[in-house]
Amino acid sequence: MKKVDVLLGLQWGDEGKGKVVDVLTPHYDVVARFQGGPNAGHTLEFEGQKYVLRSIPSGVFQGNKINVIGNGVVLDPAVFKEEVDALEKSGHSLTERLKISKKAHLILPTHRLLDNAHESAKGDSKIGTTGKGIGPTYTDKISRNGLRVGDILYNFEEKYKAAVERHRILLKAYGVPCEISEIEKEWFEGIECLKRFELIDSEHIINKALANGKSILAEGAQGTMLDIDFGSYPFVTSSSTVCAGTCTGLGIAPSRINDVFGIFKAYCTRVGSGPFPTELFDEAGDKLRNNGFEFGSVTGRPRRCGWIDLVALKYAIMINGVTQLIMMKSDVLDDFDTIKACVAYKINGVETEEFPFNISDGLEPVYVEMPGWKTDLTKIQDENELPEELNAYLDFLEKELQVPIKIVSVGPDRKQTIYRYQE
Ligand code: GDP
Ligand code: IMO
Ligand code: MG
Repeated sequence: MKKVDVLLGLQWGDEGKGKVVDVLTPHYDVVARFQGGPNAGHTLEFEGQKYVLRSIPSGVFQGNKINVIGNGVVLDPAVFKEEVDALEKSGHSLTERLKISKKAHLILPTHRLLDNAHESAKGDSKIGTTGKGIGPTYTDKISRNGLRVGDILYNFEEKYKAAVERHRILLKAYGVPCEISEIEKEWFEGIECLKRFELIDSEHIINKALANGKSILAEGAQGTMLDIDFGSYPFVTSSSTVCAGTCTGLGIAPSRINDVFGIFKAYCTRVGSGPFPTELFDEAGDKLRNNGFEFGSVTGRPRRCGWIDLVALKYAIMINGVTQLIMMKSDVLDDFDTIKACVAYKINGVETEEFPFNISDGLEPVYVEMPGWKTDLTKIQDENELPEELNAYLDFLEKELQVPIKIVSVGPDRKQTIYRYQE
């Protein structure tokens, strides 16, 4: 019996998951998304082309691998159709290779309106969601009011109307008119698009694939610090972004999990509101944003930037049982004279290396500072060519984190990927 490898983000999302899933896909038979929805924007670059995927797994560009949208995902048919149309237009046919769980929940047009209504009502304490209806859709799932992909096959109009009626009442309470006629048209076109694909009981397909010796890569969305339980609540997303989410989001047993690839940037970013202990408001922060082109791939919002936070990273590694690390965007630090890493928090004068309940108040990061490498990494192909100062940074991180860094990414392209610990 084969096992599932999991790739997930260890920070606040946008670590570069899409790029690495694409790079690793040739080693797998199946790539599966297990949570999140079109709040994700996973960017891939190869052969001079750039693609941003939202709900479709990042394994669709490498050979004829099966790609599965699992039951833990929330799917907006309109966004899905946009993605399918764009991919098919660029010559990537999907119908044979993309399969969708009947148990994945549907994001309705009214969920998007509710997302925005909740945010407006929160005023200054708004989460800064992507506005894609993620929270309200998962809320309906948990409160047992949701509609699932499988529902489109039987009596769908009736179920849809009842759900919209319920949402209309909620929107009225917020004083928001339920004007959906325009987005509804696109949405129903999306429903027709969904019907072109094989709608599956993905838990059976995935477990059968494992029993038949097929290998599976589970692709996480968002990041551990946005997890509904372990993230910086309430400034989080509404799903389990951690390794355990793979089990509930795909229907596999915990004992089926093999490697857990934890992916992080050589620094740190966050979009939306919420605490960010190592955030920089100075020139160094601007330089990270400019060098790393840190603007949201979905919303275009500037990402908040700061130094790497090892207290948060250690916590994420612990929660996920990470077995291998992948460091992204190393090239963004190429022209820094020195680099800082947060190794502890000082909270009301007391130093701790343990990630606390509250990271909002009275917290001061404790940094160590190291020399930068002042070298263009983007053309380097071999681990033996890495500059001494970068190797020292990697050694330092491995010593702190106690997990090997097996891949170092030095640019957005598929080819700008360096494997370490090669024989
Ligand atoms: P994801 O959501 O985790 O898949 O990450 P995003 O796609 O939202 O954001 C990562 C961004 O960084 C994308 O624009 C990628 O093309 C880009 N990227 C990925 N790896 C690297 C890298 O090593 N260096 C640089 N400069 N950019 C990278
Ligand atoms: P990928 O998969 C970065 C953030 C939003 C907001 C919070 C809640 O590309 O890494 P939501 O719309 O989910 O209710 O928003 O979570 N967020 C992300 N930040 N990358 C993402 O996905 C994100 N998905 C959600 O900015 O702060
Ligand atoms: Mg992203």
